[in-house]
Amino acid sequence: MKITQLMGYQILDSRGKPTVAASLILDDGTVHTARIPSGASTGKHEAREIRDHEGKFAGGMYRGNSVYQACENINELIAPGLIGRTPDLTAVDQFIAHLDPTPGFQRIGANASLAISIAVAKAQAHSERKSLVRLFQPTGQLKLPMPMANILSGGAHARNTMDIQDVLVIPHGASSFHEALSWLSAIRESAAREGVVLGAPTHLTADEGGLAIEFPTVEGAFDFVTSCISSVGLRTGTDVSLAIDFAATQFYHDGIYRLAKAKREFQATEFVSYVRHLVNSHPIISIEDPFAEDDWNSWNAFMEEIPEGLQVIGDDLYTTNLLRLERGIKENSSNAILIKPNQNGLLTSTLEVLQRAQQSNRKTIVSARSGETEDSWLADLAVGWGAEQIKVGSTHGSERTAKWNRLLELEATEACDFAHPF
Ligand code: PGA
Ligand code: ZN
Repeated sequence: MKITQLMGYQILDSRGKPTVAASLILDDGTVHTARIPSGASTGKHEAREIRDHEGKFAGGMYRGNSVYQACENINELIAPGLIGRTPDLTAVDQFIAHLDPTPGFQRIGANASLAISIAVAKAQAHSERKSLVRLFQPTGQLKLPMPMANILSGGAHARNTMDIQDVLVIPHGASSFHEALSWLSAIRESAAREGVVLGAPTHLTADEGGLAIEFPTVEGAFDFVTSCISSVGLRTGTDVSLAIDFAATQFYHDGIYRLAKAKREFQATEFVSYVRHLVNSHPIISIEDPFAEDDWNSWNAFMEEIPEGLQVIGDDLYTTNLLRLERGIKENSSNAILIKPNQNGLLTSTLEVLQRAQQSNRKTIVSARSGETEDSWLADLAVGWGAEQIKVGSTHGSERTAKWNRLLELEATEACDFAHPF
């Protein structure tokens, strides 16, 4: 099959902000569309997302947040080189990397490059009469990933209702994906009920569907979620544990970690000890970005003596970038990595990062962004790439359930196993 048309255009994400979509038409008449997510607590080292803050599309009703330039790059720079070619992901990704060899796709934008990469992957899967997941894992039993879900959100996702970004839970004692999801849903509903008791406006959900409840201290937030786990009859530490995304870059300035609501300040070495104390005094199984994106010293110091079984994830630290991961492997900066395709800009190079992490015995968690769409390709990637864990936000919001529901679809229609990464 051949590509006959390819167009980029602007759509809206789950926050009402513009984002890029690309539709690719094959010569059998089928249309293959990719919709691209976008972050709020974006790492400094991520690939470049082009928004119209400057240039000919600047201003307008979206106040500089439109993505018309990225769409034009698809239509004028990328599409002409792909019309008439077969939808082959490896070849197309090479073509794009050649077209824009700048680091992080400075010229064409990673929101443009990823849209093409995913549209082509979908079209290739179709041309081989496969689902997207089976493009990456053609045969054998599929392994559904262990989910983690947001219960509380603060930081950049919820106007700083908490000092840290997210308190999530991992249902690591569940025996199937659907059971895991039922536990997540029960805990999220319990948190909404208990939030009412606290007098919190629990109709206020954050960008990723977590509850935006005011907590003056992080310890208070951890205790609240721990009690919600118990209140639905699940055992903390055995069935379900906490996972914390500190997104610490957001509250680190000039060598100081500042928890504004708690009115506490820490030197980097003190913050390393504080994080260790938090982990040791709560049922926490996973922490993400506990330190700032360029504060490698604190990461490395923390890893010298980590609590047994603790997963330490680099998100803003690595930004799904192979060179940064290589440094993290060399210095033993973490034992896990968050994989976000739009931090990288192409599917094939995102997969390279994931495989390098797997080879070096690091856990991999495929992740959505705070700005998402109804597209569910992320679920297919997580399974097809054997990531073993997935993070897509809460159990609320169609842009979140699109991914959970795709995993439930795979569980119902294919021979599946369930990952037990803990
Ligand atoms: P973001 O947040 O999509 O706003 O960057 C998600 C995360 O930090 O994991
Ligand atoms: Zn994060």
